[in-house]
Amino acid sequence: MSIIFNEQNKTFYLNGKGYSYIFRINAVGYPEHLHFGAAVPCEDVSFVRSFGSRSQIATPAGVDNPNLSYNNTLPEIAFFGTSDYREPTFLVESERGDRLCDLEYVGHDILNEKPRINGMPSLDGGETLVVHLKDKFGDMQVDLYYSVYDDVSVISRRIVYKNGGNTTLKLHRAYSFTLGFGGVDYDVVTFPGNWMAERTPERRPMPHGVISSDSKRYSSSATQNPFIMVTSKDATEQFGEAYGISLIYSSSFVLKAEGTSNGDSIVTGGINDFDFCWTLGAGEILETPEAVIAYSNEGIGGMSRTLHDTFREHLINKRFVKQPRPIVINNWEATYFNFDNEKLCAIVDSVEGTGIDTLVLDDGWFGERKNDRFALGDWYVNEQKLVGGIDVIIEHTHAKGMKFGLWFEPEMINEDSDLYRAHPDYAIGVPGRPRSYSRHQYCLDLTRKDVRDCVVEMINKMLREHKIDYVKWDYNRNVTDAFSVGTDPERQSEFAHRYALGLYDICERIINGNPHVFFEGCAGGGGRYDPAMLYYFPQIWTSDCSDADTRTKIQYGTSMMYPLSTMSCHVSAVPNHQTHRVTPMSSRANIAHLGATGYELDTTKFTDEDKAAVKAQVEEYKQIQDIVLEGDLYRIENPYVSNYFTEMVVSKDKSRAILCVYRREAPANGDTKRIRLQGLDKDKTYRIEKLGIVASGASLMNVGMGVNYRLEDYTSDMYIITEA
Ligand code: DGJ
Repeated sequence: MSIIFNEQNKTFYLNGKGYSYIFRINAVGYPEHLHFGAAVPCEDVSFVRSFGSRSQIATPAGVDNPNLSYNNTLPEIAFFGTSDYREPTFLVESERGDRLCDLEYVGHDILNEKPRINGMPSLDGGETLVVHLKDKFGDMQVDLYYSVYDDVSVISRRIVYKNGGNTTLKLHRAYSFTLGFGGVDYDVVTFPGNWMAERTPERRPMPHGVISSDSKRYSSSATQNPFIMVTSKDATEQFGEAYGISLIYSSSFVLKAEGTSNGDSIVTGGINDFDFCWTLGAGEILETPEAVIAYSNEGIGGMSRTLHDTFREHLINKRFVKQPRPIVINNWEATYFNFDNEKLCAIVDSVEGTGIDTLVLDDGWFGERKNDRFALGDWYVNEQKLVGGIDVIIEHTHAKGMKFGLWFEPEMINEDSDLYRAHPDYAIGVPGRPRSYSRHQYCLDLTRKDVRDCVVEMINKMLREHKIDYVKWDYNRNVTDAFSVGTDPERQSEFAHRYALGLYDICERIINGNPHVFFEGCAGGGGRYDPAMLYYFPQIWTSDCSDADTRTKIQYGTSMMYPLSTMSCHVSAVPNHQTHRVTPMSSRANIAHLGATGYELDTTKFTDEDKAAVKAQVEEYKQIQDIVLEGDLYRIENPYVSNYFTEMVVSKDKSRAILCVYRREAPANGDTKRIRLQGLDKDKTYRIEKLGIVASGASLMNVGMGVNYRLEDYTSDMYIITEA
């Protein structure tokens, strides 16, 4: 890993693991992108430069040379108003109302220690280049940050915007990066979705024009994910080039891919500029979220493995990332709101001896919470429901050698709550206008410090006064009525980003303030599954759909960017509560075991046979857990296009692996499946106990193995592969 600046050709060489990222400062002081891809020597590669379109070219201000048109040069940052007609990286308005900017290079620093972003999560480690740019004719100053890492093929980027003058500037757009690609021969993959259908890969050609993937929901959302992929046309799971761009951000975002008129492509994005305006007073700065850009020439699978390693090594809380996860029994789908201490104790008793080690008490234990119309915000125990108090079930759980987890929804408030009666203004909304409901609740105004202090104190009090080992942090609706009574009128369009900063502040104070507690994230399932949340929550409830068959798709899509260790997955009852589908218990377990596993059904109704099955499943999971949490993922079959869902996870030293094969529908005359394994060491010999196979990695990967299935829908097997 190194960052080199060649004074002679004014070129920066960022040499990361297996890649080179090269750009130069051109004749007009513009940072011009030259290469990001497989590693090359630190030599002059400016011969790659094309001169683009000849039609109606404008030139940089005062430079009458069309060859230097910004529009025809691959950008490191694109700015509006002076010869660039592509998606600008930012847009700034001066006090007199002009929106022009013409940046030039004024210097750079190379830092051994990567600076953290104020108030926002980012990757740790990494050597960092900061390139300083300044408007030739105005006060705007821009710093481009690039960080490279020893151990992962990733470059991370962000931008800091600064008002270097004495007047006020307004940023109408302030993205985190622009990345150039030579040519348009690429595909773009985005991840649209919905509640219970999160992160569905959608692949299409790089357009002539703009593809935009965004959220205007004040959360990263289930409807898109802050991740976009650009691949070579021929890229598959195993072959071709893939670039994965992931934004460490939890509020409204946008990511855009544009095939430009000059035959090149760019990707840009960051904080969504829809309904955004940030005022920069004299000397003020705006720091933007970090974008993590993974490169692989080993296909989409290689890109995913790179991102997984990056998040595990440089982002997720080190206290938990490689620890065995709690194996939970969650009472939500078992009881919904209908429980008391007696029922909860019975659940704990019913899992004794199975290896399940944590009870998570879900929604309904607080305030006057009869159903979802009541009591959000009242984070104290409902003693009418939990007679004798919550310590009855906590102590019972601990006495059985299990840990105790509790559900909160810290960002929310119901109209029917003590908190709302005392502080109606804590809810986001415009005074005098009725607010929108969603799940009968409102969002708290986390842009206000007094509101944040109140939430932090209530939750920390519960965590101080009771022996709680685990918290499930839920978030069941998106913000509407964006307005804060605590913010000046001219700054109301800062709301979405200020919400993110407020959220990170309460996460810091609650999560990092209680280091002994394990925190799981949740947002009506996977409705806020993003890298910034993973910085705080080592795992996230992947989706409210717990049906094994639907989960194959959701977990497949989620694995494109996030490691299996981050996916909280539960075995639930049949008929499934969301799809009414009946799948075998073994398949529900096998699919859940491809993540941080758990159970969510009424275990008091277990037969002896069920209990024995769960015991065996948990034993098997404990045997493979380290592979699932830390290994390399190989997606062999895509459940969106195949009747099969097949995945392998291989330990880092390639001595052990798991293979999960799931078949949706049973063909009437049966079928035999040939599977070529991936990721093994070709020179090692492996044993697959269940099939009685002992063979070389070379044979298992090149010849493959046959699997026969019985005549039953939704069948699956988990094979454990060990070095012989
Ligand atoms: C949505 C979550 O995703 C569920 O698991 C459950 O916690 C409910 N909220 C409770 O309201």
